[in-house]
Amino acid sequence: MMRLEGKTALVTGAGSGIGLAVATRFAAEGARVVIADRDADAAAAAATLIGEAARAAVMDISDEQAVESAFAGLAAERWAPDVVVANAGVQLFGQDAPAADLDLDVWKRTLDINLTGTFLTVKHAVRSMLATGGGSIILTGSPTGINGEGRDFTAYSTTKAGIHGLARTAAAAYADRGIRVNTVVPAYTETTLVSTITSDPESRAAIIGRIPLGRAGAPRDVEGIMVFLASDDAEFATGSLFAVDGGMTAL
Ligand SMILES: NC(=O)c1ccc[n+]([C@@H]2O[C@H](COP(=O)([O-])OP(=O)(O)OC[C@H]3O[C@@H](n4cnc5c(N)ncnc54)[C@H](O)[C@@H]3O)[C@@H](O)[C@H]2O)c1
Repeated sequence: MMRLEGKTALVTGAGSGIGLAVATRFAAEGARVVIADRDADAAAAAATLIGEAARAAVMDISDEQAVESAFAGLAAERWAPDVVVANAGVQLFGQDAPAADLDLDVWKRTLDINLTGTFLTVKHAVRSMLATGGGSIILTGSPTGINGEGRDFTAYSTTKAGIHGLARTAAAAYADRGIRVNTVVPAYTETTLVSTITSDPESRAAIIGRIPLGRAGAPRDVEGIMVFLASDDAEFATGSLFAVDGGMTAL
């Protein structure tokens, strides 16, 4: 028996990187998956790649109307999700900066997507799950929400620490309504998001040097923990932070 048979999952930011890997694995484990991304082409390509079990939903997580109407549309078509992975995010390399040098606009653009967008995803996921009897919500956190990791990461780190707090609060608030909320912390993972680091040998070596298991993360590294948290095996897990980061946050 596949571990997610009979479940419907929505993954934000599933047009690329970690979200795409997780959505693909969820489908392989028997789930129907909604590829939610603001990039329509990437969402459509991912849905085509996964096949019949997938459908694309164009949704900008920072736009409440878009998020609300995506969840309403899914409910109307009997695709209301049992599992929501609030994963979409951005990191504005070259613009994020130490606090005294950080433009308010860069701060706001990072918070709008990573923090407000994740909040809006959680808000409407909870409303949808309250109507269907519960589910599992998984947020993608970051080592930068636990340790500083980079002197330039003011806005990004702040959003990730906020996401970790959002998960704990929502977990406590809705535990008695059958909704579990957890956070997964990947390591530095070589996706488009971090191409600035990946393409600079010195920065890449420095960050890998901080990972005790001695390599960069790959999107596949967090698939297993995401499947566990989405599945009924995790029925007693809520409000927790699950790091699958090669030991990065142990240091
Ligand atoms: N790559 C890493 O090193 C790393 C480490 C820890 C955590 N993370 C987190 O993992 C998550 C996924 O990142 P990734 O590395 O796969 O990046 P990625 O750039 O490969 O994928 C991000 C996806 O999110 C989508 N997206 C961006 N803004 C959006 C919005 N407003 N609405 C809807 N979709 C939007 C993009 O179109 C893209 O498809 C992010 O939350 C990121 O912060 C990444």
